[in-house]
Amino acid sequence: MLSWDEFDKDDGEAAVAGIGAQAEATAMDKLDSAGDAAALQAREVTADDSAAVARAKAALNSLDIAEGLAELEGSATRVKVDEKRMINCRADLNQLVPFKYDWAWQKYLDGCANHWMPQEVNMTADIALWKSPEGLTDDERRIVMRNLGFFSTADSLVANNLALAVYRLITNPECRQYILRQAFEEAIHTHAYQYCIESLGMDEGEIFNMYHEIPSVAKKAAWGLKYTRAISDPQFNTGTPETDKELLRNLIAYYCVLEGIFFYCGFTQILSMGRRNKMTGVAEQFQYILRDESMHLNFGIDVINQIKIENPHLWDAELKEEATQMILQGTQLEIEYARDTMPRGVLGMNAAMMEDYLKFIANRRLSQIGLKEEYPGTTNPFPWMSEIMDLKKEKNFFETRVIEYQTGGALSWD
Ligand SMILES: [Fe+2]
Ligand SMILES: [Fe+2]
Repeated sequence: MLSWDEFDKDDGEAAVAGIGAQAEATAMDKLDSAGDAAALQAREVTADDSAAVARAKAALNSLDIAEGLAELEGSATRVKVDEKRMINCRADLNQLVPFKYDWAWQKYLDGCANHWMPQEVNMTADIALWKSPEGLTDDERRIVMRNLGFFSTADSLVANNLALAVYRLITNPECRQYILRQAFEEAIHTHAYQYCIESLGMDEGEIFNMYHEIPSVAKKAAWGLKYTRAISDPQFNTGTPETDKELLRNLIAYYCVLEGIFFYCGFTQILSMGRRNKMTGVAEQFQYILRDESMHLNFGIDVINQIKIENPHLWDAELKEEATQMILQGTQLEIEYARDTMPRGVLGMNAAMMEDYLKFIANRRLSQIGLKEEYPGTTNPFPWMSEIMDLKKEKNFFETRVIEYQTGGALSWD
């Protein structure tokens, strides 16, 4: 096994030798110039070099690295925790530690511990049931089709928003580390839907294009995209109250509404199917996805609340009203989706029950970011869903730390 002990011992002895800061700096200078000399020597063209190797060495000799060094120069000091900020931070973003937001790093570790892949789920029973003419009712088939249609593109919208817009504007390395993990999880989710669609032999064009063709799906996608437009412009930057608010609107739209409301009718329907022993492979895929999504949501809530703490001037009456409206609009669109996907009662539920459930979820989203509940007295008609995620998984840092995620990719909700 590799051991660095010997190397550490040498370093330790040098330190104990009592070299002062000045002497240490001089020693570093000497080391640096020795390194430069060694690099030049390594770059000398020898008789063994092919023409291609000689060209590569010559190119390095004429490379101008001054520009890159100048860029690093501005942030060349060691980072102090107090300098770190969620947005508009000037400290060097290439230095991950020291951590300021331990909750973000913990979520990164938890996300990695929950790693899974769609091919690990056995789809054999689903294929037999889907192909059997009497396997499912028309209403049940509609639910499977609509949800694969919505989710197969929705996760791409989320991933694109993260990679092309949000990542650049969140100026904290531990949060960026989680965002990278989340973006990969979104890719796995899109893979999972593709895997279900392919396994069941569905018309891929019909499913993937549903967000253009089916109004209840299209409206949700269009609503989300509206909030990506401004901040995905490469010229967009935060730094003024107006642009900082624009980023907050995007985070609320994606974390609280898309991932926090738009996924919930579909999750409930597919998980309900699995509980009735139907489409168990698809349901298991959705269960893994839901576990990831619960963490995405919690991370987003923590980010939003942290930005509010660091920039209280942004969270004014106007933005609070706007955020409330966004969550209410999202809830309304999801209610419409519930009615479209369940024209009649199915799987022990109906659109009216789902409406209550979505209002219950909306209250929770509102209160999680410090807003007043808008559907007072609403109760949860699906306590089994609540058991799975609301009570245990949706704890965020500002309420209590999630501790129940364990190592290993297998599903474990306990
Ligand atoms: Fe996802
Ligand atoms: Fe997500």
